[in-house]
Amino acid sequence: MQVILLGPPGAGKGTQAKMLTEQYGVPQISTGDILRAAVAAGTPLGKEAKTYMDRGALVPDEAVTGIVRDRLTEPDCQAGYLLDGFPRTVAQAEALTRMLKELGTSLPTGVSLDVTEEELIRRLAGRRTCQACGEPFHVEFHPPRVGGICDKCSGNLIQRDDDQEETIRRRLQVYREQTEPLIGYYQRQGLLKTVKGLGDTGDIVCTDIEGPRRVRRSNCRSAVP
Ligand code: AP5
Ligand code: MG
Ligand code: ZN
Repeated sequence: MQVILLGPPGAGKGTQAKMLTEQYGVPQISTGDILRAAVAAGTPLGKEAKTYMDRGALVPDEAVTGIVRDRLTEPDCQAGYLLDGFPRTVAQAEALTRMLKELGTSLPTGVSLDVTEEELIRRLAGRRTCQACGEPFHVEFHPPRVGGICDKCSGNLIQRDDDQEETIRRRLQVYREQTEPLIGYYQRQGLLKTVKGLGDTGDIVCTDIEGPRRVRRSNCRSAVP
């Protein structure tokens, strides 16, 4: 399985990626998670990235493309991968096509998660993320069993720095201007599926990616925590 999860902030890319990773055993490559880890570690990349992330802007293409190039050459990506949050600009998409050609692998399927803006804002404002394993929760839609504690690993749940209302609005604007054009870019190449991103998290992506013969709905539901 080689998949690009496309969609605006809060569409559920991370949520779907975590479920598909468990189900298919392919790694999730989230540029957002990799950048947040670099920020937390205080690396030169993290220090540079923070100045963009804090204001909801995109980190420069070259930095992000380099991260993905390195990650895709690791052995666990040979059987497939889920790209979450990359590519985010047409330049990144073109760079991805070039790097996959160099690696001699086929182009991934793009899956675009379609969610209304009102719902995106509600999701991001109420999101809590496990500091240890990255599992996403929501105070209303997917609350943890014990307040503030991750169901999976008992790590602490935190609110992301960029989930403040002003930054959320800026991220949505950046999405519309710089990332939404990728929908047409992949559509024109016949590489895109659009999926309704509303409803039960267990029903959203899995049947649409692999088709009902390979993934039964009951399997999808069982992947929901
Ligand atoms: P990144 O971390 O990629 O953030 P994003 O794209 O803004 O997306 P989010 O992670 O906010 O949302 P999501 O779609 O993963 O939703 P989730 O599953 O968590 O990027 C952050 C920053 O890093 C960027 O702004 C940029 O600065 C930088 N960056 C990253 N990649 C870059 C790149 N390629 N180039 C340049 N810069 C880059 O779900 C959200 C909430 O909704 C959760 O609470 C969840 O529980 C809930 N939820 C999910 N599904 C459902 C459902 N079906 N029903 C109800 N609630 C649901
Ligand atoms: Mg995410
Ligand atoms: Zn956890």
